[in-house]
Amino acid sequence: MSVHKVNIAEIRKDYQLAELDETICGDDPLSFFGKWLAEAESAQISEVNAMTLATVDAASKPHARIVLLKGLDEKGFVFFTNYNSAKGQELVLQPCGALVFFWKELERQVRIEGRISKVSAAENDQYFNSRPEGSRLGAWASPQSQVISDRTILEENYKVFEEKFSGTGIPRPEHWGGYRLVPDNIEFWQGRSNRMHDRILFSKSHHNHWEKKRLAP
Ligand SMILES: Cc1cc2nc3c(=O)[nH]c(=O)nc-3n(C[C@H](O)[C@H](O)[C@H](O)COP(=O)(O)O)c2cc1C
Repeated sequence: MSVHKVNIAEIRKDYQLAELDETICGDDPLSFFGKWLAEAESAQISEVNAMTLATVDAASKPHARIVLLKGLDEKGFVFFTNYNSAKGQELVLQPCGALVFFWKELERQVRIEGRISKVSAAENDQYFNSRPEGSRLGAWASPQSQVISDRTILEENYKVFEEKFSGTGIPRPEHWGGYRLVPDNIEFWQGRSNRMHDRILFSKSHHNHWEKKRLAP
């Protein structure tokens, strides 16, 4: 029985915008990622920094959700969250994960895998203090991933912290901060016609050197 009136099996698109090869990618995948991110921004794609983050729990069961990329440098990819959240607990036991970006307007996907660790307290404070006041209060008010009886709990928590920090500034909660994924695999995917897509995979060798391979689509 179908739960959806539209025939989803008939939804398809042929990709024809661009092509990708080993030369275009260069030798530094982080720089090339920065180039694609800039192109996605120039194309005015909404929330270009939204990415799927997959982590695994103690039973090796995978969990995926969207988070926002908030920092990118030669070390890796930074996002912020609640350290006590489900993902935070998964990362204590299995400090690794995968990120996926899909910029559909450019017919591009990027897949990234690597080790994940907390960023420094200084990086946390710097980013936390740059956030709007409402987001900083929200970090205090929401026990992320916990079951709550109803929404009023959140609204009440928010008011409590609003009053508590009125006039004093809002400090960063200890349980809130960033993680950096340091990549060991980065794959760039450019859609092509007839499902003959281009895939270029960069893998970190034992000598800490990026190796580049083309994969079949
Ligand atoms: C567009 C978008 C951006 C989001 N950005 C973040 C983020 O940067 N950090 C975060 O903790 N959750 C973010 N979320 C919420 C997460 O998807 C998720 O619901 C939350 O982190 C709890 O996940 P967990 O229970 O697996 O830990 C975002 C959701 C969406 C749809």
